[in-house]
Amino acid sequence: MSSDARDIARRLLAGTDSGPGVPTPAPTTSASPNRRTRPRHDPTFADHPDVVATKRIYGSLDEVFGAAGLTNPFFHPHDGTNGATVSYSGRELINFGSFSYLGLAEDPRVREAAKDAIDVYGTSVSASRIVSGQIPLYSDLERRLADAYAVDDAVVTTSGYSTNTAAVGYLLGAGDLAVCDSLVHSSIVSGTRWAGCKRISFRHNDPDSLDAVLRMSRGSFERALVVLEGHYSMDGDVPPLPELIEVARRHDCSIMIDEAHSFGVLGRTGLGVRELFDLPGDAVDIWMGTLSKALGSCGGFLAGNADLVRGFKYSAPGVSLYATGPAPSAVAAARAAFDVMRAEPERVERVQANGALLHRTALEHGFDVGMSQGTPIVPILVRDTDRAALASTAMMERGVNTTAITHPSVPAGEERLRFFVSSDHTPDQIEYAMATLREVVDSL
Ligand SMILES: Cc1ncc(COP(=O)(O)O)c(C=O)c1O
Repeated sequence: MSSDARDIARRLLAGTDSGPGVPTPAPTTSASPNRRTRPRHDPTFADHPDVVATKRIYGSLDEVFGAAGLTNPFFHPHDGTNGATVSYSGRELINFGSFSYLGLAEDPRVREAAKDAIDVYGTSVSASRIVSGQIPLYSDLERRLADAYAVDDAVVTTSGYSTNTAAVGYLLGAGDLAVCDSLVHSSIVSGTRWAGCKRISFRHNDPDSLDAVLRMSRGSFERALVVLEGHYSMDGDVPPLPELIEVARRHDCSIMIDEAHSFGVLGRTGLGVRELFDLPGDAVDIWMGTLSKALGSCGGFLAGNADLVRGFKYSAPGVSLYATGPAPSAVAAARAAFDVMRAEPERVERVQANGALLHRTALEHGFDVGMSQGTPIVPILVRDTDRAALASTAMMERGVNTTAITHPSVPAGEERLRFFVSSDHTPDQIEYAMATLREVVDSL
């Protein structure tokens, strides 16, 4: 490995996180209650610790990569769609970096639906929904999602991230407790900060740990909300949901499940972790999901009982209150994708079979697949930042796009290449990727 490449790999180490564990650099100044000694801050935020750290890490990456004859992989634009294949600067790659699990973001019917919605409603509803921004498309999709989760109602929103943040921020406050799986998404953590509640984590997917945390702390708080994901995006594992629900209910907790990577992917017909475990809709209180993964669009949703969803719609800032309604094209695309998913269950069967094939093939090639269970998310642990970054670059040279995930997105020592599998991958593509990765990893 050249020293240039090592340098680049080390720089990659410092900041690719989308998860909760981003370390904030120590502030350069400390706030003081004494007005006379209060430090002066640059009004342009040029001294903001995160702005400073980001500039240090990313500010000259184009030059650094360029000097090594490489392309900066961050914000690297692709030419067309981001499906089972992707094209960069005219070069087509087999692609495992897209969460279009059912190939629907690329589907002609979904694209057509988005265009038709623009023809009818324009590009924006130009108001928040509660005043004059409501269109029938919203309730069409909400009805489908509520039925999918066997609950009364749902609300669709403009962003999955802000849906989590706004929902938790709305539901909890000072004196309340959020008990989160240790691997929940950054958006949930942001929500707990917005709420001003106490946040405690329990060991990933461990009902005994949840029980221990709640035995210790439940009595000191008013409301308690247990938050988990239906399918974890870095690890490709599924929670033991019935057991976790049993513990949460025994301790008088509400439950929220983030179905971002579960809807369209898990369950016999893709209706998510509820279908997988054959649970009733009211087994948990809030089913949250995104339109951006299997549904091939952009936005989020919350589904639950009628009163709660009314609360989200009428009085939750950032869910739909004080926020412009989602783009008509985005909601029309998600609605069309939902209908294709229901009409073509073979897509769900294929993505599940492809996930199992990639997992099995990875094991046959001797890879460490961590906690993954053969779902359409398969991490291949290389346990070293340089190796992860270099393997990703070398795979790209051999025609395969996959993402290096390094600390702090995952704990140090668990660096990996992460494979998202789609219904459109062929067995040949999957086998080629694993055989190529074996050669690449052996050559590092
Ligand atoms: C588990 C989880 N929840 C929420 C989100 C945010 O969703 P969106 O990207 O649609 O805003 C993501 C994003 O990838 C996610 O992985």
